[in-house]
Amino acid sequence: MGCLTLAYQLLFLQLLLLYSQTSATLCSYDQSIALLQFKQHFSYKNFLSYYYCDWARERSFQFSEIPPYCDGRCPSYRKTMSWKEDTDCCSWDGVTCDILTGHVIALDLSCGWLHGNIPSNSSLFLLHHLQRLNLAFNDFKLSQVSSDFRQLPSLTHLNLSNSNFSGKIPTEISHLSNLVSLDLSVSELETAVFQELVQNLTKLTELRLDGVDMSTIVPSFLTNLSYSLTSLSLNDCGLQGNIPDHIFRSPNLQFLRLRGNFDLKGVFPKVNWSSPLKFMDVSDMSLSGELPNSIGDLMSLYHLRLYYCNMVGSIPMSLGNLTQLTYLSLSQVTISVVISHHFCQILSSSVILIFQ
Ligand SMILES: *[C@@H]1O[C@H](CO)[C@@H](O)[C@H](O)[C@H]1NC(C)=O
Ligand SMILES: *[C@@H]1O[C@H](CO)[C@@H](O)[C@H](O)[C@H]1NC(C)=O
Ligand SMILES: *[C@@H]1O[C@H](CO)[C@@H](O)[C@H](O)[C@H]1NC(C)=O
Ligand SMILES: *[C@@H]1O[C@H](CO)[C@@H](O)[C@H](O)[C@H]1NC(C)=O
Ligand SMILES: *[C@@H]1O[C@H](CO)[C@@H](O)[C@H](O)[C@H]1NC(C)=O
Ligand SMILES: *[C@@H]1O[C@H](CO)[C@@H](O)[C@H](O)[C@H]1NC(C)=O
Ligand SMILES: *[C@@H]1O[C@H](CO)[C@@H](O)[C@H](O)[C@H]1NC(C)=O
Repeated sequence: MGCLTLAYQLLFLQLLLLYSQTSATLCSYDQSIALLQFKQHFSYKNFLSYYYCDWARERSFQFSEIPPYCDGRCPSYRKTMSWKEDTDCCSWDGVTCDILTGHVIALDLSCGWLHGNIPSNSSLFLLHHLQRLNLAFNDFKLSQVSSDFRQLPSLTHLNLSNSNFSGKIPTEISHLSNLVSLDLSVSELETAVFQELVQNLTKLTELRLDGVDMSTIVPSFLTNLSYSLTSLSLNDCGLQGNIPDHIFRSPNLQFLRLRGNFDLKGVFPKVNWSSPLKFMDVSDMSLSGELPNSIGDLMSLYHLRLYYCNMVGSIPMSLGNLTQLTYLSLSQVTISVVISHHFCQILSSSVILIFQ
């Protein structure tokens, strides 16, 4: 039985090999044409300069002075340069095909120097099999995000962050019910659309909305965020009010970034804080109370930023129980830390401690 299965597997591999040898072009003709049309629509501009980010990081100890786009980095070059007629589009930069069907299933043009807009009749929307699309860090010249993204229902990953789109994100994005990862950082999101996203995108595991103005969104809406979320990033969103304590206990959440929401209040759970959190940045927030002993319950935590988070009191010794911790920023915390010999002893020697 096992032998027969192996034989079948070998046969399949041979067929696959034969297929890839005989078919010079894997890419289907229509997909190739659609990509070339998409390319022709743009001019090119190396608009993203990280020099400013490096400059700001060196000089500033305040995260809030560093613009949100500095968080994302990708190799920046004219990615569509390799897109040429009569070559296999599956070998082009940024293009990934399904090896059996030849359909384009992923397109990563992030930091790709695209300069132009994406009209509703764009040939991009002919790539119906797309599962992953990353257009981050391009310059779409303040054009609107087209509602025609709904024509790409197979999308599981969509990244339109930092792309100089303007206008509101269309509600049609919330029809993309297969999305597991969505990044709309630095764009405009209406409260109603946010609500629809939260209610309809139940498969989301990763949501990033850094720099999106959420000042009119009541933080309790976050309660309804997908329980499957493993990563939530809402840096510099202008969130106000009280953050539901549930966010800190979300059963699958490993990465939580809430930096720079100066008027966002909240308290950490005081008891039984079981959570798989690995990375937590609550700098520049209005947390209140003390850093509770329960922080020692977060056994997976390796990165903790408490910079200007407004907490008071003293550092609990339970911090020493966090064996995974490698980064701890306490800079400017009003917590009266006495950096005593004892405190240093409780932290593992590998922790980078930032304290100014
Ligand atoms: C979106 O793309 C940028 C650039 O490649 C990357 O830094 C960022 O992490 C991506 N967002 C998500 C949620 O993967
Ligand atoms: C899209 O429409 C414009 C006119 O509105 C036309 O000039 C252009 O050729 C069309 N593009 C495609 C890819 O059909
Ligand atoms: C966004 O687009 C506008 C209009 O084309 C342009 O003036 C501006 O410089 C662009 N911004 C960035 C960051 O590229
Ligand atoms: C949300 O999902 C429901 C059910 O799939 C659908 O009927 C509705 O149109 C969706 N709403 C939005 C705004 O996408
Ligand atoms: C959560 O969603 C339910 C419906 O799915 C709604 O009734 C409730 O008001 C929502 N809660 C918040 C805080 O938005
Ligand atoms: C904390 O967990 C313990 C043990 O599971 C339980 O006995 C106790 O009631 C819990 N306390 C709270 C406030 O949930
Ligand atoms: C931390 O570990 C010590 C033992 O080293 C234990 O007594 C204490 O209960 C732990 N604290 C927490 C908050 O888990």
